[in-house]
Amino acid sequence: MSDDALFPLELVRQDTHDAGPRLIAPGAVQVPGWLTPEQQRWIVDRYGEWTQGPVPLRAATLPGGHQMSVRTVCLGWHWKPYSYSREASDVNGRRVLEFPDWMVRLGRQAVAAAYSPEIVEDPSLAELAVNYTPDAALVNFYNDGAAMGMHQDKDERSNAPVVSLSIGDTCTFRFGNTETRTKPYTDVELRSGDLFVFGGASRFAYHGIPKVLPDTAPDSSGLSHGRINITMRVTGLS
Ligand code: SIN
Ligand code: MN
Repeated sequence: MSDDALFPLELVRQDTHDAGPRLIAPGAVQVPGWLTPEQQRWIVDRYGEWTQGPVPLRAATLPGGHQMSVRTVCLGWHWKPYSYSREASDVNGRRVLEFPDWMVRLGRQAVAAAYSPEIVEDPSLAELAVNYTPDAALVNFYNDGAAMGMHQDKDERSNAPVVSLSIGDTCTFRFGNTETRTKPYTDVELRSGDLFVFGGASRFAYHGIPKVLPDTAPDSSGLSHGRINITMRVTGLS
């Protein structure tokens, strides 16, 4: 019997996913299955509200004229390539929704979960959870075929961690280095409910989504189609 048959790729993937929190790079931690199915469904319901406006989902256009395949709605601050503002001047000029208090609490819990002493050695990372106060969220929706190129999150005037939550279809998340958008990088499979935090030495690492796997969302996620990703950030703006 071939080793492919003995050790199918699916089994290997299952193992890494079930092994608990994983340090991907210094300051970059994946916590598989962090959101319960009930929390996922609740957030999917909130997502349905956010997309009702005042600012609708939109696919941003990059300065070169290329339109992103991912569609985004923002909370707290509106992001357009490559700056933040309160009003969505590139959509309909309306002010974006307030950043919800529950999401600040969730962000703190997320940083504490990712930067627990069992996972990261540096105790200064764990302290970041105490005062973590995200004020912007980019809520992305990936339909079949949507992807995101390698980029850095660097429009914030703060080096506080980015908290990323995934709901719905599984994707490949490519997490790279701070110097180049190419190798070395690690491909991580993000599934519904997964948390990923990148801060510290990885705060300005290049990252992207090369692929979303259609129809992989568990029914329990409450999302029948596609993938939602929420990234919380501290803008450092006032
Ligand atoms: C992002 O880099 O802004 C989104 C990452 C993701 O969709 O997981
Ligand atoms: Mn990003």
